[in-house]
Amino acid sequence: MSAVLSALATQLSSAVTAAFGAQYGVLDPELRAATRPEFGHYQTNLALRLAQPLGQSPRAVAEQLVAALDLSGLCEPVQIAGPGFINLTLLPSVLAAGVNEPVVFAPRGERVVVDYSQPNVAKQMHVGHLRSTVIGDALCNVLRAVGYEVIRQNHVGDWGTQFGMMVEQVLFEGLVVESLDIEGLQQLYQRGRKHFDAEGNFGDLARARVVLLQSGDEETLAIWRQMVEVSLVEFDRIYAQLGSPLTRADVVGESAYNDRLQAVVDDLTVAGLLTESGGALCAFLPGFAGRDGSPLPVIVRKSDGGFGYSATDLAAVRHRVDDLHANRIVYVVDHRQALHFQQIFALCRAAGWLPATIPAEHVAFGTVLGKDGKPFKTRAGDTIRLASLLDGATARAQALLDERETLEEGARAAVAAAVGIGAIKYADLSSDRINDYVFDLDRMVAMTGNTGPYLQYAHARLSRLLSKAGETPGLVTVLEQPAEQRLALLLSGFGDTVIQVAVTLQPHRLCTYLFEVAAALSTFYETCPVLTSEGEVRASRIALCAATRRVVHDGLGLLGISAPDAM
Ligand code: ARG
Repeated sequence: MSAVLSALATQLSSAVTAAFGAQYGVLDPELRAATRPEFGHYQTNLALRLAQPLGQSPRAVAEQLVAALDLSGLCEPVQIAGPGFINLTLLPSVLAAGVNEPVVFAPRGERVVVDYSQPNVAKQMHVGHLRSTVIGDALCNVLRAVGYEVIRQNHVGDWGTQFGMMVEQVLFEGLVVESLDIEGLQQLYQRGRKHFDAEGNFGDLARARVVLLQSGDEETLAIWRQMVEVSLVEFDRIYAQLGSPLTRADVVGESAYNDRLQAVVDDLTVAGLLTESGGALCAFLPGFAGRDGSPLPVIVRKSDGGFGYSATDLAAVRHRVDDLHANRIVYVVDHRQALHFQQIFALCRAAGWLPATIPAEHVAFGTVLGKDGKPFKTRAGDTIRLASLLDGATARAQALLDERETLEEGARAAVAAAVGIGAIKYADLSSDRINDYVFDLDRMVAMTGNTGPYLQYAHARLSRLLSKAGETPGLVTVLEQPAEQRLALLLSGFGDTVIQVAVTLQPHRLCTYLFEVAAALSTFYETCPVLTSEGEVRASRIALCAATRRVVHDGLGLLGISAPDAM
């Protein structure tokens, strides 16, 4: 909480204690931003909540509370409104200090491990991976900003029985894997699949190949490694285009846990947590049941003796706790895997691998839909290549910039990339992540509404104003107009908003905040001239513009969106 808010809360609590006794002083004042400018800046409904226990009218309670309240140096004289709301209006000097004081977060001495992006080898990245990458990047930025040490884990899908089949198909065709790209690998997979279904003999070879792969046969591993490499080259290309900081060093794929899966089974067996069921080794945990009431197992070892997705994730949790010394564990994965993660976390807690002091959170997100309201696919029903989406957005932004002609032709390409990619990212981040959203490029790149380009434009306009101002911005000293007060109040809430995102892992809260700042900025422009005003007012408004530019720039930066100085 900001210093001002906590000072207000403390004073309110002392006033309650003084007026009605300490047993009521523990009540949270629940300070809220005022809903209308004429209600001041903050509002509390303490008096309404105290009326019943005190057996008095809310208005009477409010009057006694206000009489006991000392907000000198912080607020204008306090107002009681309606049935007994207490309205607080900060002094201009307090508002100004909230803007002038830089937001600083001390290191927390805590480590958070974030599992995100997680594309699959030999498959094109799709919009689901876009969501995980964009949300994961934003959360890593925010968590680092509030003082965590952040460790990224890209849990790439690079292991499993399909790779035995694909290696066998490579040998069958005599292919050189290095000559393929990711699309070529995807097609190879499809040919392998057909071959597998059509010829029993090939099926046997493929299954034997899985065993060779898992037991570390060199020839098999070499071909598998090439498939991984071709895929990682493509993922790197997409990360570069997206401006994601993910690198090879963050890749800890499913294969990395191969050697630890047996220990998972052994330790769970010793702990008495596994039951044999139809040849498979399963954990049945209390509280996990299907709709018909039948228990839902975690399958730790399959009936064919192989390990699956769950065993790998169990080993991965242990890695995060034991080797990476995580204090907090986060997984950015689509909502359909919610049950999977609930079970994994519960089993790890039951096994003692995940102490109660370490929170594990599944940051779930909804599906990207096409304009028809169905999951976003090509007309032929194939997944849409992420690469072509990003190119499309950049081209659309380029066309808009060409139309506007505000930039030199040579400067447009870089800005178009920033705007196009920023538009896609912002659209993804700006609605509550658990919701589905429609991929609508026209809406995403629009310069009006709650969009990335709208905020980028607000930033560019501020940059231009500040460069025209011809003076280095100083401090905000004069805040007389409601519009500049409102803007200042919002700006002072930046740090609190970032903390809220770090707590809830909901980036849309930061988007909503930035959109409010941009809206308050427009109102400010309409009512408060900047460059044509004079003296201290001019200097103070320039400082307010500089502070706004900083917040929009840093806020977009936390979302992984760059803010060009001109558009
Ligand atoms: N590769 C998986 C997919 O594309 C997501 C992996 C999520 N992370 C994890 N630790 N299970 O659906």
